[in-house]
Amino acid sequence: MDTSFSTLIRTASHEQHTEAETSTFMSDLLGGALGVDAYARYTEQLWFVYKALEGGTERLASDPVAGPFVRTELLRVPELERDLAHLRGAGWRETVSALPATAAYAARVEECARTWPAGYVAHHYTRYLGDLSGGQIIRDRAEKTWGFARKGDGVRFYVFEQVGNPAAFKRGYRELLDAIGVDELEQQRVIAECKRAFSLNTGVFQALGEEFPTAA
Ligand code: HEM
Repeated sequence: MDTSFSTLIRTASHEQHTEAETSTFMSDLLGGALGVDAYARYTEQLWFVYKALEGGTERLASDPVAGPFVRTELLRVPELERDLAHLRGAGWRETVSALPATAAYAARVEECARTWPAGYVAHHYTRYLGDLSGGQIIRDRAEKTWGFARKGDGVRFYVFEQVGNPAAFKRGYRELLDAIGVDELEQQRVIAECKRAFSLNTGVFQALGEEFPTAA
């Protein structure tokens, strides 16, 4: 039986992955039921989350547990800022705001980044491995639904220019997870934090679904 850490964390979050994937907001977004304004609002929320994820990377880069995961080719804040300038215009910073669910998510990421490097890894995994996977489906739908140029402004968040081979990158990432230098008890705590990360994402989808209800 494969009980590697990468398999454990994947299996443990499987149910919540389905929940996030099939949330009303995601289904509406992918089903073409929402306007570009909803997509822009979602992108704004991602900006707050990634600022929290990437704000502490300089310090975390030298941490023995989180350090190996910190990779410049993953950084998304510059891409999100280009997307937001395209979606909202040059003055996007004047109107951008975090939903309460987003603020709670970002606060938890920041807390982990500051005080618990292994917990930070749970958040890192939940976002970046997802972006490299299902994110590509979201990009494809967004391009088709709202007419963004392929891999261009509006969907740059989903384009990892510096990751040549996402499948190979994900394999390497799973190897890093398997080599994480923490004991079994701490691995269980990281898995619990990953579940919390999924719940925090679902909370943001819930709030976005309330802001952008569809007729159905
Ligand atoms: C409609 C939305 C989504 C779709 C269509 C989707 C689809 C997928 C697919 C197809 C994979 C498998 C990739 C592979 O086997 O290599 C995957 C993996 C993953 N997704 Fe999603 N996903 C979505 C939303 C999310 C969300 C909201 C999160 C969390 C924030 C997330 C986190 C992950 C993670 C962490 C993995 C990697 C699992 C692993 O291999 O360890 N996904 N996703």
